[in-house]
Amino acid sequence: MKQIKIFDTTLRDGEQSPGCSMNLKEKLEVAKCLERLKVDVIEAGFAISSPGDFESVSEISRVVKDCTVASLARATVKDIDCAWEAVKHAADPRIHLFIATSPLHMQYKLKMSPERVLEQTAAMTAHAKKYCSNVEFSAEDATRSDVDFLCRVVEAAIRSGATVVNIPDTVGYTTPVEMEGLIRTLIERVPGATDVEFSVHCHNDLGMAVANALAGIQGGARQIECTVNGLGERAGNTSLEEVVMAMRTRPDMYADTFTRLDTTQISRASKTVYSIIGQSAPLNKPIVGRNAFLHESGIHQHGVLANKKTYEILTPEAVGITTNNIVLGKHSGRHAFESRLKELGYALEQEEMNRCFEEFKLLCDKKKDVEDEDIIAIVTHSATADDEADDAYKLDWFAVQTSNITSATCTVCLKHGDEKVERVCLGDGPVDAAISAIEQIIKPVEHTFELYQINSVSRGQDTLGDVHVKLNASGRTFTGHGLSTDIIEASILAYLRACSKLSSWTEKQAAMAM
Ligand code: KIV
Ligand code: ZN
Repeated sequence: MKQIKIFDTTLRDGEQSPGCSMNLKEKLEVAKCLERLKVDVIEAGFAISSPGDFESVSEISRVVKDCTVASLARATVKDIDCAWEAVKHAADPRIHLFIATSPLHMQYKLKMSPERVLEQTAAMTAHAKKYCSNVEFSAEDATRSDVDFLCRVVEAAIRSGATVVNIPDTVGYTTPVEMEGLIRTLIERVPGATDVEFSVHCHNDLGMAVANALAGIQGGARQIECTVNGLGERAGNTSLEEVVMAMRTRPDMYADTFTRLDTTQISRASKTVYSIIGQSAPLNKPIVGRNAFLHESGIHQHGVLANKKTYEILTPEAVGITTNNIVLGKHSGRHAFESRLKELGYALEQEEMNRCFEEFKLLCDKKKDVEDEDIIAIVTHSATADDEADDAYKLDWFAVQTSNITSATCTVCLKHGDEKVERVCLGDGPVDAAISAIEQIIKPVEHTFELYQINSVSRGQDTLGDVHVKLNASGRTFTGHGLSTDIIEASILAYLRACSKLSSWTEKQAAMAM
C-alpha cells in the first residue's frame, strides 16, 4: 500500500486569499483541527511575509506534535533563513522553497534567464538543506513551463537535497490527462526522481483542481497539497475533503493507496474554518454543504428508504456528520451539554467548558432548540475570541426603532471603566444607526469598512447570527466577530471588537513613534 500524504495549506495559500485572513488565535485553532484530522503536513504560513506570519508559524511549530510543519520561502537566502527561524522548533520541520519556471514568470516576474533560475534552484535548495533535512522544492507555474527545462530544474533541486518535489498548477490551467502525463514524464526522465516524493498543488480556476490532483496521483505523485473547503487564491485550491473522500470512495481507481486522514473530523474542520473566516459552505458543496446528504425528490427518498446505497455513495457519518438529531434546550443540563460536545468530538478544558456552558444557557433563554451548529459556533467563537478584558469600551445596552417608512434610530450605551456613555443616532437601517452611535462615543481613527458579513448559524427564525466585520486603516485589516440571536447586537459586538483592535494598534504605533 502506498501512502498519499496530505499537505494542508489552508493557513498559507488559503489564508492569503482575500477575505480569509486569520489572527494568531484563529490560526492556532485551525492548526489544532488539522492535527486532529491527521494531515501529514501543515503549511503554517509564509514566515517572511509579515511579522504576524512569522509569529504564527513559530507558534504552530511549537504546539503541533503530530504533523510536519512547513513554512513557505522564495528561493532567496533571506526568505529561507527566516523560514528556518520560524519552523526550527517543530517536532518535524520542513522548509518549502519555490521559484517560477515558466517563460512568462521568468521573463516578466523574476526577470531572470532560465540558466539563472537553474543556478538559484541548486544554490537555494542546498542552502535550505544546511538547516533542515526535510526540504520541499516547488516549480511555480510548472504546468506552463517547458517540460525539458522543468526536468532540468527538478534534477537540480533533487541533486541539491530536495526530498519533496512539488508541481504546482499555479493558475489552474492544466487538465487531468496533462497532469497525469507530466508527473509520469518527470518521474521517468529525471535522474533521482524515484528517491523523492512528487507532489501536486492544483488551483481551481477551471474547476478541475480535485480532478487534476487525483490525476497526479495516477501519474505517480505521493503528496497532495490542498486546503479545507478548497480555500485559496482566486477560485481556490484542491479541496481537502473532496480529494480525500474521492480516494476513499473509489478504492478501485486509487488502488493500493491510503491516507492517514481521520475523515470523521472533516465536518468539524470545515465548520471551524468557515466560522473563522465568516463564510458558510454553499448549500451544494460536495461533502460539507448542507444539502450534500439530503434527498428531497420522491424518487430518491423512496430509493434511499429501500436501500441507502441507491443514492448515497458515502455516508454522512464517514465525514463526521452526526445524524442523531438530538436538540438541546432550556431543560438540558450541564451533563447533556457536555455529552453532546463529546459526541461532536470536542474535549474542552474545564475553564473553556464553563465559558461555553454559560453561553449555551444564555442561548437557551433566547432559542427554543439549540442545534449542533449552534454548539459548534459557541465553541469556535469561545476558542478564537480575543481577550475582551482589555477592551476600553463594552456594550451595556442598546435599543433600536426601525420601520420601512422612517429612518432607523439606535441608542447605544457603552461602558468605559466606571462611566456609562450613551448616544442616539439615525441611520439608513438599524445597523448603520448603531454603528454611527458607537462612532460618536468612541471616535475611532479614520477607517473604511472592508467587510460586513452576516451568516445564520443554523436554521429557523431564531437562529444565531454570526457577524464578521473587517475595517481597514493605514493598509491594515482589523477584524471583529459577534454572535447573537439578535443581529443588531451581533453587529455591535463585532464592530466594537474591530474598533478596539484598531485603537490598540493606533496607540502602539503612537507609543513607538515617541
Ligand atoms: O500556486 C503555487 O504555485 C503556489 C506555490 C508557491 C507552491 O502556491
Ligand atoms: Zn498555490
